Amino acid sequence: MPGRSVVAGLDIGSTKVSEVIAAVGPDWDVEILGAGASPCQGLRRGLVVDIDAVAAGIRAANKRACHMAGFNVRSVCVGVPAVHTVSRETRGVAAVSGEDDTITVEDMKRALDAAKVLAVPPDRGIISVLPKEYIVDGVGGIRNPEGMTGVRLEVDARVIMGQAASLANIEASVEKAGLAVAGWVLEPMAAADAVLDPEERERGVILVDIGGQITQIAAFYEGAPVLFSWVPAGGVHITNDIAIGMRVPLEQAESLKRQMGKRGARQGVQVRAVRGAAVRGAAEQRKQPHGPQVTSALPAGEDDFLDRIVEARLREILELVDVETRQVRGKGLAPCGVVFTGGGSLVPGILDLAGEILGVPARMGVPFEVKWRSGREPGEISTAALGIVAYVVNDSAFRLSRETRSSPIKELLAGVRGWFSDFVKDFF
Ligand SMILES: Nc1ncnc2c1ncn2[C@@H]1O[C@H](COP(=O)(O)OP(=O)(O)OP(=O)(O)O)[C@@H](O)[C@H]1O
Ligand SMILES: [Mg+2]
Repeated sequence: MPGRSVVAGLDIGSTKVSEVIAAVGPDWDVEILGAGASPCQGLRRGLVVDIDAVAAGIRAANKRACHMAGFNVRSVCVGVPAVHTVSRETRGVAAVSGEDDTITVEDMKRALDAAKVLAVPPDRGIISVLPKEYIVDGVGGIRNPEGMTGVRLEVDARVIMGQAASLANIEASVEKAGLAVAGWVLEPMAAADAVLDPEERERGVILVDIGGQITQIAAFYEGAPVLFSWVPAGGVHITNDIAIGMRVPLEQAESLKRQMGKRGARQGVQVRAVRGAAVRGAAEQRKQPHGPQVTSALPAGEDDFLDRIVEARLREILELVDVETRQVRGKGLAPCGVVFTGGGSLVPGILDLAGEILGVPARMGVPFEVKWRSGREPGEISTAALGIVAYVVNDSAFRLSRETRSSPIKELLAGVRGWFSDFVKDFF
């Protein structure tokens, strides 16, 4: 029986970096020990463009999470956006190693490792190997063969590859922040683990993560991913439109947008300037870093104007999502509709608009309920970073390296460990 392990998930977004540190118990129960976030400016459309800025964001988020956890982590599992990724179908084969022909996670990992042996172009790096189905002695359609009996284990998998250069830049940023990359996790896979129900994934669902600068899309059918895509638009574009349309500084546009979420309670919302004032004194306003301290509710008419600005950009984003997901929906692979996640999706009217444009039901994704370690004050937690932890905990490589730590066959497995090995440490 394995002891406790610590798992740290790091999400590097175009607006902020978030980290979640969790303890994984013997029964794979997850307890949150710490969480931290920090603004980050070093990404453009999902790609690192300023290593120092990203490293600074990582360092700050990690410091907060570690402070809350009460100890330092050395390595983190890092989310990679589904930007410029490609995927390939592949098959791996392994002989079942146990004496009684019982399939273990070790066999599953060997089959997945074998599936990784494919020609990877020099400008590509493997992010994940996602099992589609296992085949035990020729019988396919198996989701989890652990504990089954057989001699030959095969796996049909999808290998996700990212741009080698972008992975290297993310790694350089993590290392510059004093941490090591324990493993990569495709961001939409992590988000899916945080907000989708297994039944939805089984019947067919589309996940739409509207972030700051990008919107990531994944579709699942019969439990497996059938589509990864992205479009270069997100919440930052909505904020920019508000700033231009309402003629207010970006900071204020952001706050106006966030206030919109509190529909109904918006009447009487305190904002720093109204459009009329901004129009009159736009030049003066720009000279003052924080704008004039005018507090006022948006007058009648301004509300509608703001609504129209937001709706126009949101409509554009959803129309792009429509194009990307048309095939999946057309084939009837998404009866459960669309589930939204990501900060950019927190704008009113999104579900109605999605229903109109995509013609399927839509809901907001709510992350699974987390358990905080007793004695720790529950804090705000990033869905994306939480999803990375959840994904890692379900990962057979992680399970294997954890189980073999105290196992007598640990020595024998020294060669195949590695991916998560540095990352897994006894918690007590
Ligand atoms: N309460 C809110 N209401 C409206 N918008 C919000 C709210 N909170 C966050 N946002 C918006 O969400 C966006 C950031 O979302 P998120 O944190 O998911 O992105 P990210 O992961 O940093 O970026 P990306 O995924 O594009 O790399 C910003 O544009 C921000 O304005
Ligand atoms: Mg994101």
